[in-house]
Amino acid sequence: QGEREALMDRIKSLLKEQNAVLVAHYYTAADLQILADETGGYVSDSLDMARFGKEHPAQTLVVAGVRFMGETAKILTPEKRVLMPELEATCSLDIGCPADEFSAFCDQYPDHTVVVYANTSAAVKARADWVVTSSIAVDVVKHLHERGEKILWGPDKHLGDYIRRETGAEMVLWDGSCIVHEEFKGLELEKLRAEHPDALILVHPESPRAVVEQADVVGSTSKLLQAVQTMDAPAFIVATDNGIFHKMRQAAPDKHLLEAPTAGRSATCSSCAHCPWMAMNGLRNLAHVLETGSNEIFVDPAIAEQALVSLNRMLDFSA
Ligand code: 13P
Ligand code: SF4
Repeated sequence: QGEREALMDRIKSLLKEQNAVLVAHYYTAADLQILADETGGYVSDSLDMARFGKEHPAQTLVVAGVRFMGETAKILTPEKRVLMPELEATCSLDIGCPADEFSAFCDQYPDHTVVVYANTSAAVKARADWVVTSSIAVDVVKHLHERGEKILWGPDKHLGDYIRRETGAEMVLWDGSCIVHEEFKGLELEKLRAEHPDALILVHPESPRAVVEQADVVGSTSKLLQAVQTMDAPAFIVATDNGIFHKMRQAAPDKHLLEAPTAGRSATCSSCAHCPWMAMNGLRNLAHVLETGSNEIFVDPAIAEQALVSLNRMLDFSA
């Protein structure tokens, strides 16, 4: 038996012994997604990860993804033990939006409703009126705009720009971006599109405008996966982290899937669209946290109480 199989078996028994469930994001390694699927866990986008963790009866949630996903799970279910394979797995959007600076920015616009992306720290969520993920961001802002509210949005400027164009809302934007999606390039995508005229283009809205504007479908990871399953096309060009190709290939084995071109192309890497923090999650550190109980997520209770208000608005809105 190889190391991989041995680790997979060990993790399966540890999950069972400890009444723990594995929740993984689409961008994590295929082996983690396979484990979640085979053990009654869940693989999804960030909104559904939050919902699943909240509703599942297991006493321990093991969150394979990045830090904000573990924190969200803990805030929503403080009575549960939340473990993560790697506590250093962060996100450039979170790093680029320190709570004190963001709070000072909000203070400059006291008449704006503060809407933040889920890819933020608990303290930033605590300062916000609403939290949203990419799957409901447009709908929430549309709803607020229809109520006559002005929006302060953070941290992803590309997603903010997309929401503003979709809703016509008056929005001020924080200047943050995702290091993975930022690399997709409009001109190169045009060239690839010309080479594959039968392909549809699927784009995550953290990508720059020049890429989003060429999309046939713009949406969260779940929406892009659903497009591959349901749309009648022989090929797709996908502008998001290539971790999602595991599920896309599973869902639509006959379709031709191409990675959208990035600036990071090299001889060894035709598209370098993979989040370095998602990549920190692996079989070894997953087995280790289950064996030792290390890497438990804690959130300051006062911050968690505040953040819960804006997170619950998100869940109630999407219910
Ligand atoms: P989704 O909510 O679409 O899964 O996105 C999370 C994320 O981090 C995208 O980079
Ligand atoms: Fe953050 Fe981008 Fe990684 Fe998603 S892909 S976790 S937005 S750095």
